Amino acid sequence: MKIAVTGKGGVGKTTLTALLARAFVDRGYKVLAIDADPSPCLGQALGFPPEALARLQPIARMEALIYERTGAQPGTIGGYFKLNPRVDDLPDQFSLEDGGVRLLELGAVEMGGAGCICPESAVLRSLVTHLLLRRDEVVLLDLYAGVEHLGRATADAVDAMLIVVEPTRRSLGTAAQIKSLAQDLKLTRLFLVGSKVQSQDDRRLIEDGPPALPVLGFLPLDEAVRLADLEGRAAYDLSPALRQAAVDLIQALPPVR
Ligand SMILES: Nc1ncnc2c1ncn2[C@@H]1O[C@H](COP(=O)(O)OP(=O)(O)OP(=O)(O)O)[C@@H](O)[C@H]1O
Ligand SMILES: [Mg+2]
Repeated sequence: MKIAVTGKGGVGKTTLTALLARAFVDRGYKVLAIDADPSPCLGQALGFPPEALARLQPIARMEALIYERTGAQPGTIGGYFKLNPRVDDLPDQFSLEDGGVRLLELGAVEMGGAGCICPESAVLRSLVTHLLLRRDEVVLLDLYAGVEHLGRATADAVDAMLIVVEPTRRSLGTAAQIKSLAQDLKLTRLFLVGSKVQSQDDRRLIEDGPPALPVLGFLPLDEAVRLADLEGRAAYDLSPALRQAAVDLIQALPPVR
């Protein structure tokens, strides 16, 4: 199962990704969680130890590696470099495992779109495609916003794209924009996940609104998310309500094609 998580800034994408990761582990799956945010924080949301996270380097910042794999200096544009560099050994070498979740940080470079051709993006795009197509495990991709940076190959390989929305018109508006971009990429398996939901009215707003997408489920507004952040722990370990919500979301997912 390959799942991409997207949505407006601050709606709860990282919180959702971390909860799903732990819920999949509890159901016996191997999980790879990919942080595609330029300022990574999925590791924190997963409650990974800060010392370990400090040692983890985002792939895009590994200049020597990018040079070795593509034959071009990072930061350069134009010139010759390999568009399909070897990446299959990278996930195990450059990820961190804790509590059954393997975490990989991509770093600050845009991944796709025909307009983006630089050595860093060649490595990242190959890596994400490799992970989505070839790895026999649950892959969760925490995207920072939108889907513009998803290439066609990546979009094709995703089993479900979750658009996280708060019960606000603004976040639903962003979801509608993401829906139309996703459709340009021919990505169809789109679902809304309501986040920070407090009432039946909140649920209804999300279910009724544009963007008119199926709602996979809801995460309640829960103080545990903030407390977990302060304590450097995973919200999954602090809140039975969030744990249950994550399990319900997993059960609502469509079967893998
Ligand atoms: N279910 C929830 N209950 C309460 N607070 C939440 C919940 N989900 C997220 N938050 C809070 O909302 C803020 C943003 O959460 P998070 O980092 O998960 O969002 P994001 O969409 O990944 O943000 P960004 O766009 O910056 O990556 C955080 O302060 C977090 O504590
Ligand atoms: Mg985030």
